[in-house]
Amino acid sequence: MTRALDDAALDQLFRTARTQNGWTSEGVDDSTLHALYDLVKMGPTSANCSPARFVFVKSAEGKEKLKPALSANNLQKTMAAPVTVIIANDMEFYQHLPKLFPHADAKSWFVGNTEMIKATAFRNASLEGAYLILAARALGLDCGPMSGFDAAKVDEAFFAGTSYVTNFLVNLGHGDPSKVFGRSPRFEFDEVAKIV
Ligand SMILES: Cc1cc2nc3c(=O)[nH]c(=O)nc-3n(C[C@H](O)[C@H](O)[C@H](O)COP(=O)(O)O)c2cc1C
Repeated sequence: MTRALDDAALDQLFRTARTQNGWTSEGVDDSTLHALYDLVKMGPTSANCSPARFVFVKSAEGKEKLKPALSANNLQKTMAAPVTVIIANDMEFYQHLPKLFPHADAKSWFVGNTEMIKATAFRNASLEGAYLILAARALGLDCGPMSGFDAAKVDEAFFAGTSYVTNFLVNLGHGDPSKVFGRSPRFEFDEVAKIV
């Protein structure tokens, strides 16, 4: 039977977790990145289409390739982060549906339907990016997601000649609490939700 996580786990995933702007010197092992992906891949996507592609930028060379694409406010913290994940949408994701969703001819739902390909790739890769944030927190890492960058430049530097387009970036590591911004307010239930 599935039971609710305890308060410590809920705090770690949601209530005390913060978006990070600075990092300690503690690195992130490649084995942790593999463990992270092994959680992310289990998150649900429509028809199990799994359109997200991940580049874990760790090396100085990789960071230099990323640098010209970053907005000014994201530059320093991204260069300092132990890892920056590029989450991309594979616009040819549906080619893999015979493997990923073998009990139906799901590929045929997409072939020639550009709008459905775009919407499905963006929706599900964005979800996989969200799973990555929560999986990272579950593994004891901190995150700094970012949309402040030039996606065309990231595509050119990392995905030229492929069917991948950049969705968003996430810095990963161990956060420096002194660099966290003040907590912004959240909506209360009645402001944004209703039960009908
Ligand atoms: C998709 C996405 C894009 C974001 N882009 C940026 C960004 O470019 N630069 C930045 O400093 N913060 C960025 N943020 C961080 C948000 O402002 C932050 O998560 C939000 O204010 C909540 O902060 P908290 O998690 O500390 O409560 C982004 C967050 C998300 C989820």
